[in-house]
Amino acid sequence: MGDSSSSDSRSLPGFSDIRWFDSIDSTNRYLLEEARGGAPHRVVAVADHQTAGRGRLGRSWEAPPGSNLLVSVLLRLDLPAEARHLASAAVALAAASAIGAETGLAPVIKWPNDLLAADGRKLAGVLAEADLAAPPEHGYPPIVVGIGINVGWPRSDDDLPEGLVGQATSLQQEAGHPVDRSALLDSLLGYLGPRLTSLGTPEGRAGLASDLRRQCVTIGSRVRVEMPGSVIEGTATDLTDEGHLVVATDGGSKTVVAGDVVHLRPAG
Ligand code: BTN
Repeated sequence: MGDSSSSDSRSLPGFSDIRWFDSIDSTNRYLLEEARGGAPHRVVAVADHQTAGRGRLGRSWEAPPGSNLLVSVLLRLDLPAEARHLASAAVALAAASAIGAETGLAPVIKWPNDLLAADGRKLAGVLAEADLAAPPEHGYPPIVVGIGINVGWPRSDDDLPEGLVGQATSLQQEAGHPVDRSALLDSLLGYLGPRLTSLGTPEGRAGLASDLRRQCVTIGSRVRVEMPGSVIEGTATDLTDEGHLVVATDGGSKTVVAGDVVHLRPAG
């Protein structure tokens, strides 16, 4: 279904079913539908182009064909509901490691899961979508985690629509040279395998949460958190072991499970 035009299958240890599309509406949408038909844990979908790429909070995610890494992974994990955020954190952490290995850059994580360059501009975003009503005969309920990494686009602010000027950058812009998308994907999946294994145990999840804490630039920042129907302001002080954001406000400490964060003043 959808508007996929052609696909090319590859495999990597731990990920034996990697489907590469020239064009598709959304790799997240595709894997959610495949999951309803019984597709298993660790199927990967990658696209050169998305015609209806999805971003967080109902936004769209757009990039010119062949420029960025657009990839989703289907996960079927025995994960407590309250720890579901860690599935997307695992992908963000794996992507940060892969970017480091392929480019020497050291992206930081803005809660919940944006990867930012040292100058604070966005390099990548993560969108997790779960199908909790999926029929149980196919295994644990599917969670599809998609990430869009700005590899070759934007080349400069001139490429960006007015509202994004100064807010988004790419690996090519930051590293000063082109970056190979295929090598980056291999590296990302190489780092993701062990992260997925850690999601299976309480100790593994605690380790993942501490790695997230270490790389999360939101901690220590003055923030405004926009949630459906409410907004809070305060200082982000910590992440829980489930990866939720703890914010000290005038009305006391609040734990945020999902929301959009604006950094009002950086840490330190
Ligand atoms: C964000 O809003 O920051 C999250 C963006 C997530 C985009 C990726 S690209 C691959 C996958 N397929 C989609 O439709 N969206 C995600």
